[in-house]
Amino acid sequence: MMTLRNGKTAAMLLAMGACLYGALPASADDRPPAPAPTADLSMVPQLKETPEQREARLKWFHDAKFGMFLHWGPVSISGKELGWGRYANRPWDIYGKMLPSEPDYEYDHLYQKFDPVKFNADEWVKIAQDAGMKYMVIICKHHDGFSMFDSKLTEYDIMASPYGKDLIKQFADACHKAGMRLGLYYSTRDWYNTDYLVGDNVKYDNWYRGQVEELLTNYGKVDIMWFDHVGGQNWGKWKFDELFSMIYKHQPQIIVNNRAARFCGPRTPEDKGPPSPEFQKMTDGDFGTPEQAIGNMDLKNSWESCITLVGGQWSWKPNGKMFTMERTLDTLISCVTGGGNLLLNIGPMPTGQIEDRQVLLLKQVGEWVTPHAEAIYDTRGGPFRNGKWGGSTHRGNTIYVFAKEWKGDTLTLGALPQKITAAKKLIDGTEVAFKQTDTGVELTLAAAKRIPFYTVIALTLEQAAQDGVVIDGAK
Ligand code: GLC
Repeated sequence: MMTLRNGKTAAMLLAMGACLYGALPASADDRPPAPAPTADLSMVPQLKETPEQREARLKWFHDAKFGMFLHWGPVSISGKELGWGRYANRPWDIYGKMLPSEPDYEYDHLYQKFDPVKFNADEWVKIAQDAGMKYMVIICKHHDGFSMFDSKLTEYDIMASPYGKDLIKQFADACHKAGMRLGLYYSTRDWYNTDYLVGDNVKYDNWYRGQVEELLTNYGKVDIMWFDHVGGQNWGKWKFDELFSMIYKHQPQIIVNNRAARFCGPRTPEDKGPPSPEFQKMTDGDFGTPEQAIGNMDLKNSWESCITLVGGQWSWKPNGKMFTMERTLDTLISCVTGGGNLLLNIGPMPTGQIEDRQVLLLKQVGEWVTPHAEAIYDTRGGPFRNGKWGGSTHRGNTIYVFAKEWKGDTLTLGALPQKITAAKKLIDGTEVAFKQTDTGVELTLAAAKRIPFYTVIALTLEQAAQDGVVIDGAK
């Protein structure tokens, strides 16, 4: 029997594949035809939920606002970008050009040196908690094809590294222990697996679905499945009905981002488009993912901006230019007041640690966020249109105005239908002068009484503020 380099046997891989996709035959010769997998779309919430059921499933996500994205892997040894730092012809899948994939020998062997002995998942969770983050999303496999978890379906995984322990298991356990919501990132796009997009792609399609199934069955409750792009343009190369039916069989409450089928299409002569409108709806998932940009104010659709903290690079960039505290807070407040979430990306070092300067910055963010928690979490964005001046959130009878740029001592906002009965600085409860007319709301506060970054002012209203309504902000 062939023994693979990480001690897994070929039979183990086969057996695993077989238990995911049908029973293993007694011998290869009398192998019955493999039962056709059957997708059960009745379990897929995106296709059957009422708006109220959807809101109930996504409530925690809408309340959470702030999460940590973690990009790392053997590549962090080189300081290059994860996936994209692999200098090889990539099967360039977005535009359908399939260049031959030549391995990048150096990149593809970094795992042989990957030994993050200082990795401590509890510490990472604590760093995120101290920053005020409510969920974490970690790379399980990026475009470079390396599995950070113990996968029975490949030998190119963490078990083959000198470290030899399942990182995702430790991470998931730490999140569960701390009550931190857990998100798993999985890149369907794969530049290492030589089956990717080859022929009808069935082999790869089954294989990656098997890996996703491992992720959704071996690590307890998973709150977010964060896919990252497919390729080949052709919808016919992917069985998304099988994927979603499997996902919701194992994790009925899970939230999925909008990239499970991203880059299928635009239509080509071979591509017949999504097999049915259901496929489109399902794979659009639960939330949008503006990348390296703050999403536009949108109070109707769920969204989460993913943005790198250091140097525009996802994985560790030694000496990369880091966001300032002000820029980080601006990014967070713009997302929250605009009706979205921020997934702020950190690139841990090859040792398994997060750089001190990043830890410090995140701590400072938390020190600002914590006394303003009431205005951030469990709120909804708006009503005032956000902008350079700041923005607002609301919950029940309270609107929280995040005021940054004032004209002199005043801030003039659009007309509010509800009557304001009080205006107070959130941080210390001191009164803020306000004037409400049919044309707008004017808040007045001397510069000396404002606080760094944003002065948050709680407006008490006679009636509840409405969700999804946008009113003019400051000009
Ligand atoms: C893009 C990039 C990928 C990154 C991801 C995060 O898909 O290709 O490198 O991980 O965005 O949003």
